[in-house]
Order: sequence, then C-alpha cells, then structure tokens
Amino acid sequence: MKNHTGFPDKYGPWALVAGASEGLGEAFSIELASHGLNVALLARRVPPLERLARDISERFRVETKIITADMGGPGLSDLVEKSLAGIPIGSLVVNAAFAPVGGFFSAPLTEHERLLDVNCRGALRLLHLLVPPMLERKRGGVILMSSLAGFQGTACVAHYAASKAYLRVLAEGLWEELRESGVDVMACCAGMTDTPTFRGSRPRISRGLAGRMALMKAGEVAKAALDNLGSGPIFVPGAVNQAAALLLGHVLPRSLAVRLISRSTRRLYREDSPR
Ligand SMILES: NC(=O)c1ccc[n+]([C@@H]2O[C@H](COP(=O)([O-])OP(=O)(O)OC[C@H]3O[C@@H](n4cnc5c(N)ncnc54)[C@H](OP(=O)(O)O)[C@@H]3O)[C@@H](O)[C@H]2O)c1
Repeated sequence: MKNHTGFPDKYGPWALVAGASEGLGEAFSIELASHGLNVALLARRVPPLERLARDISERFRVETKIITADMGGPGLSDLVEKSLAGIPIGSLVVNAAFAPVGGFFSAPLTEHERLLDVNCRGALRLLHLLVPPMLERKRGGVILMSSLAGFQGTACVAHYAASKAYLRVLAEGLWEELRESGVDVMACCAGMTDTPTFRGSRPRISRGLAGRMALMKAGEVAKAALDNLGSGPIFVPGAVNQAAALLLGHVLPRSLAVRLISRSTRRLYREDSPR
C-alpha cells in the first residue's frame, strides 16, 4: 500500500501491535499512528507502554489503548477480547517473539514450549480473534513478523528459526486464502535490526561495511513493511537482506545455505562451530 491517503480507510480505525513497547513494535506503533490510526499497544511491562502511549497520542493526536498481556499466556484471547470491547481493529501486527540462542538440546523442554507459546500459539490466537471481524468488514491488514532466519534451518537458533518459518508459511497461505476478501496478509522477513532485544543478545557484528550495511534501523523496517502491505505475501526489508534471501533461498544448494547461515549465526553469538 504505497499510497498513504487511504490508509485509515483500508487499515483503520484501530491497529493492534503485539509486542509494542520497544524495538520493532514501537516503530510499528509510531508508524501506524503517523498514518492516522489509533493504536492498541500490547506488551507485558506497563511503564514503557505508558510512555509510548503518551508520546504517540501527543505527537499524532490519535487514541491509544494499553493491553498488559503475555503473548504466551493461555488467557491471551479472553484478555484481548475484553480489553478491546467495542474497538474495531483494522490492522494487526504480530511482533513479539521469544528468541533464545544456543544449542537445541542445551535448553530445557520448558524453554522450547515457551517459544511455541509466544511465537506460534500467541500469533494463532490473535489471528483467530481479530481477523474474522476484518473479513466481515471486507478490509484490514495483518503483518506477521518473521525473519530471514525463517527461510532455512539455522544452527544455534534452530527452534526460533522454525517458528519464524511457521509465521512465513502461515502468512503465505492466508495471503492466498484472503486475497479476494479485502484483508491483506504479509510476513515481514527482517534481517538484523538494531533493537534493545537484538542488542541484549550481545551479537558480535562485523565492524566492516557488510556488517554495517546489513544492520537496519527499526523505523526503516516498520516504514518499509507498511509501505509494502498489500503488495505480496512476503516482504524482505533492505537491499542487503533481499540479496541474502535470494542467494540463500534460490541460488545456493539447500545444504550449503543452511551451513552458511549457521556459520554466520554461530560467529554472531560466539558459539563453537563443529568442523
Ligand atoms: N531485531 C532483529 O534483529 C530481528 C530480526 C529479524 C526478525 N525480528 C523479529 O522482529 C520482531 C521484534 O523483534 P525485536 O528485536 O523488536 O524484539 P522482541 O523482543 O521480539 O520485541 C520486543 C517487544 O515485544 C514485547 N514482548 C516480548 N515478549 C513478549 C511477550 N511474551 N508477550 C507480550 N509482549 C512481549 C516487549 O515488551 P515486554 O518485554 O514488556 O513484554 C517489547 O515491547 C520479532 O518477531 C523478531 O523475531 C527481529
């Protein structure tokens, strides 16, 4: 949707951003508010949500609603439904993720179950709750935050990458199912993005040109994703990421692609590489 003039008509009057208070979610919330949408902000910690709500309502003169919820909690649907009573959601950004780094079998099963709850079940619950009313209104938009990691298996973040593949493939299927419905669905497959969570994972980014070029700002990703909503099932932000997606997904043999991305992920997180 490159032309912003009809944005609130097509994707408003309210957006829900799940994982809204910092990083990419904060950037999506600001960008949606700048297009004139009221924004429901969902995350677990209240103070950053309150700060952001104040900021965007003052800057863009839009309404905000804070929803304190855990994306991985079993009561997510009930809590969101109650919080949104009477608020029509025209766009949904499923952004929050749980992204532990390390060997698959070094983590306890509970950590893997938590990842499924936050990254997959949470997304499923919000889609099931919020998309049917969009279908009734024959308009709306959904962005599922996937990742370049969702294009192939990756050592050191194997389960996270699998959950991002789940969101990418789900978005593709829903894009086709809903193509004639007026509801746009898209997976945003971001590459390295400078966010508090990313920085908190203490990545070792190369200081060379390639490293600096690959790292994107959260605002750039959110803006580009919203500009491209409605243009296809998948969007990869940034020229470097687009080249990487092409190379890994279409040019290289699968085994080589998996080994290359795994090697760079291990380097990024200083994990030991097998020969
Ligand atoms: N940063 C990157 O390099 C990168 C690259 C590719 C894809 N992505 C994808 O982009 C999305 C956003 O990434 P990000 O780096 O901005 O960090 P993130 O940790 O996924 O998102 C941070 C936001 O989500 C909230 N959040 C985290 N866990 C939550 C939960 N269980 N329930 C509710 N809210 C939760 C946080 O607030 P609270 O802590 O207060 O809940 C905060 O507002 C993710 O889906 C990630 O996979 C990121």
